[in-house]
Amino acid sequence: MNNLSRMEELVGLLEKEQTLTDSEFSEFFDILADSCGEDADRRVQIREEIPAARCTQEEAILYAAARRAREKYYGSDVYLRGLIEFTNYCRNDCKYCGIRRSNRNVQRYRLSKEQILLCCEQGYSLGFRTFVLQGGEDLYFTDDMICGIVAAIKERYPDCAVTLSIGEKSRDSYKAYYDAGADRYLLRQETSDPLHYRYLHPQELSIENRKRCLSDLKEIGYQVGCGIMVGSPGQTRDHVMQDLRYMKKFRPHMVGIGPFIPHKDTPFAGEKAGSLYDTLHLLAVIRLMMPDVLLPATTALGTIHPAGRELGFLAGANVIMPNLSPGDVRKKYLLYDGKICTEDEASACGRCIELRVRKAGCRVVYSRGDFAGFKVRGQ
Ligand code: 5AD
Repeated sequence: MNNLSRMEELVGLLEKEQTLTDSEFSEFFDILADSCGEDADRRVQIREEIPAARCTQEEAILYAAARRAREKYYGSDVYLRGLIEFTNYCRNDCKYCGIRRSNRNVQRYRLSKEQILLCCEQGYSLGFRTFVLQGGEDLYFTDDMICGIVAAIKERYPDCAVTLSIGEKSRDSYKAYYDAGADRYLLRQETSDPLHYRYLHPQELSIENRKRCLSDLKEIGYQVGCGIMVGSPGQTRDHVMQDLRYMKKFRPHMVGIGPFIPHKDTPFAGEKAGSLYDTLHLLAVIRLMMPDVLLPATTALGTIHPAGRELGFLAGANVIMPNLSPGDVRKKYLLYDGKICTEDEASACGRCIELRVRKAGCRVVYSRGDFAGFKVRGQ
């Protein structure tokens, strides 16, 4: 059997069973890697509006199945999340991250509650109905302060969802934020392999605690997002398969994946970035394994290729997270080099995003964009 028909078979299986055996996965990834190595002439244009959307036939089969799966739950809707990067102080020293504690070249900043509320005000008038508060693990913000910020946003904008992305905390803290009104929480596991986890992170952090956090968040009632970096230093195909299995079992509501991109002031400065194609393949596989998941086309994906996010939508993504942080702090929240959209103003972002989403044949939906079938509190 040739590669193309085998690919059709494997994608069909993935679509039907929402999983593959280890050996089928190996075969699947081998075929994809082989097809990408072939000459560019064999590539097919899968979307005229996006000149970069030239895929191998194997990829075209995979992406079409991923789009079908997305459509079943979400149609062609793409949801918006307004990202507010409210502190770049961090107590951790993760080897991949530009705002790691020991990077002395970062100009540190914190937004006040009033500044955060201004970002929400601007975002709300642009149509955003989800605000994501992301920051380093900054102990200056006590639980009371986080609760106060969440409660103030929910009081002013009761029709909006608040997502937190502020790292590892105790179960009690997570519960307090939830009781203050937080709806969702993003915490990537980064890798579920204990040794690989050790390699990427400082001694104090462990995959056990990361998984404990994720389970606590889910039990408390949050819509929870996990995820990985694609092509992080030391990552093998086996690690990726472990992550797919872990996520499938955990049943997250959201999965955030993007390519690893080196940052010049980190121990991984000299490492290779993750690839566009590997990221797109994984987006499609995640969509097929967990068809109802909310799946962003991430900023990192848009950073490694100018049409990265559009291609992400063609591979099954359905969320985009424009930056609502004030212009003067955007350049200070650099997790990796070359991050896009650090010059723009929030209003310019809105138009640019609409265009990208439409090019991919999707439509921007200005609603909270909850997980399919999720019962929102109080409704
Ligand atoms: N390249 C790509 N993604 C990164 N992140 C952190 N550093 C990098 C990097 N150098 C991702 C991590 C984290 C998320 C907020 O950003 O996966 O969970």
